[in-house]
Amino acid sequence: MRFGFLGGGKIAEAILSAIPSKKSVIVAERAAARRAELAAKYQIRAVDDLKGVFRLADIIFLAVNPRDIEAVARVAKPFCTSSKTIVSVVPGKRLFRLRRLFGDKVALARAMPNIGLLAKAGMTAICSESKIGKEEMSAIVEVFGASGEVVYLKEQFMDMMAAMGTGGLVCFAHLAKMLAEEGVDRGLTPEQARNAATQTLLGAGKLLRESGGDIQTFIDGMCVRGSVPATGLETFAGSDVKVAVNNMFNAVVARIKEK
Ligand SMILES: NC(=O)c1ccc[n+]([C@@H]2O[C@H](COP(=O)([O-])OP(=O)(O)OC[C@H]3O[C@@H](n4cnc5c(N)ncnc54)[C@H](OP(=O)(O)O)[C@@H]3O)[C@@H](O)[C@H]2O)c1
Repeated sequence: MRFGFLGGGKIAEAILSAIPSKKSVIVAERAAARRAELAAKYQIRAVDDLKGVFRLADIIFLAVNPRDIEAVARVAKPFCTSSKTIVSVVPGKRLFRLRRLFGDKVALARAMPNIGLLAKAGMTAICSESKIGKEEMSAIVEVFGASGEVVYLKEQFMDMMAAMGTGGLVCFAHLAKMLAEEGVDRGLTPEQARNAATQTLLGAGKLLRESGGDIQTFIDGMCVRGSVPATGLETFAGSDVKVAVNNMFNAVVARIKEK
């Protein structure tokens, strides 16, 4: 399968970095400097013409911002034949709306990845229409799966997965920032504090993934009564963290629905 991208921004780069053989990858990107950067870094073709992507690629990732999607579809629609598959990573644009924008022939899927792909620790949710070919679907799953976890879900869960994957990732980064700030306030250098906070975050993520079981069981195992982690968690979990997480999910889902 040959892969193409409409838009060569942050998430396009994260996805394309996961494609094992980049020889036939083609990206359409507006900014000349960005085209040059992607071409040099990944030895791929980067063009300013959306049509070029349709000429060369079988599976085409739609990776533009929601405000650009109509303009892209106007140019792309005549090239959306039955041999092409579009995978949209644009949040909030449902399959029935993509169908209207890109016409009846093309096969359609949606993916909700996060930037963790760049660290081979991505989290991607996928949904699709029945029209999509088996080979195409396994090629899509293979790309995302090469750099993280993939889950196939009903479309109704895609907005929530944007909150989980993209909202969640920056919330963990925010928590790491607060840990680091606390470290600096208590005398560490910024570098020492950054290292300690990010390594702690990494350790928590890895241990949780590797333990495989229920997250609460992991926490209980760590938090023997009166121990340091138990004391820390008691105070932390007593704050409004759950409310903050719930608010974040609600805000992201509402924001996506506006688009
Ligand atoms: N970043 C993430 O973690 C993430 C995760 C999941 C989903 N997404 C979704 O993925 C989409 C892209 O996100 P992003 O973060 O990669 O945004 P981005 O960095 O702004 O990338 C989008 C790129 O597409 C280019 N573009 C727009 N219209 C074009 C056209 N007609 N021809 C060629 N290039 C065009 C933009 O150029 P200009 O800068 O000139 O407009 C920009 O370089 C968004 O819908 C976003 O919500 C992002």
